[in-house]
Amino acid sequence: MKEVYLNGDFLPEIEAKVSVFDRGFLLGDGVYEVIPVYDGRSFQLRGHLERLQSSLDGVRMKNPLTNAEWQAMIEQLIERNDGGNQSLYLQVTRGAAPRDHLFPQGVTPTIFAMSNLLHPVEEKYKKHGIAAITLPDIRWHNCNIKAITLLPNSLLKQQALEAGAQEALLIRDGYLTEGATSNAYVVINGTIYTSPKDEKVLPGITREVVIALAAKSGIPLLEQGVTLSDLKHADEVWVSSSTKEVLPVTLLDGNKVGSGIPGPVWQQIDVLYQHYKKDVATWH
Ligand code: PDD
Repeated sequence: MKEVYLNGDFLPEIEAKVSVFDRGFLLGDGVYEVIPVYDGRSFQLRGHLERLQSSLDGVRMKNPLTNAEWQAMIEQLIERNDGGNQSLYLQVTRGAAPRDHLFPQGVTPTIFAMSNLLHPVEEKYKKHGIAAITLPDIRWHNCNIKAITLLPNSLLKQQALEAGAQEALLIRDGYLTEGATSNAYVVINGTIYTSPKDEKVLPGITREVVIALAAKSGIPLLEQGVTLSDLKHADEVWVSSSTKEVLPVTLLDGNKVGSGIPGPVWQQIDVLYQHYKKDVATWH
């Protein structure tokens, strides 16, 4: 049976219980991280813990653990779930308190972590690409915070699925922001464009890796927004996330992207990404 971490203890998942008064449950008052684990080692842990800190700052919560404590807990959780490849989920909520919009005083935050299966990225998606649809970005104005309040993302992703697509690409004020569960990239004339890091997008950890790999190999990349029209005429479109890596979008709103097959710039980035995954130590 899988083991989870809850408020200082490791326990079998069916024994883990949280109060119905938890503000995560009642108000969605919490933040989270998803960290891939390859061969028993967490990938880009430092980046994930830095983003967790900035999400906690964004919702005005104190970090309940030091980075060393997070790391030690994560390493134990990986081991207790037999190493290998995993997808770790961490969540911190403001804790259990009588329901009130105002922050409670002196309440202990709820810290939860679990290990999920990290499904291998599907070969057919790498070979042929995925389908995406564009949808209005109906989310709030603090998308840089990795908040557990994912109802808009969930609605958007479900709408994409029901349209026969794997991802929704979101449009705000005429510009592409990101995917419902991923960052987005557009390639035009050999240059990669991705939205700048601001409150309209999540600062993806995979996005940081893509930017670093592009810089290292001399592929031009601009952290600059693109319009819906640029998106529709792009040579290549991709999405990235910790669990899906970097995937090409070859069908957008029912039309072929470029020639309709994964493009050469994506191929190059994917090769670099696969090498990087194998090479890096955990603390990056
Ligand atoms: N989500 N943007 C959004 C809205 C996301 O939900 C995600 C990832 C990303 C990519 O971030 P990263 O590269 O750090 O995974 C961008 C995770 C995987 C999830 O919610 O399950």
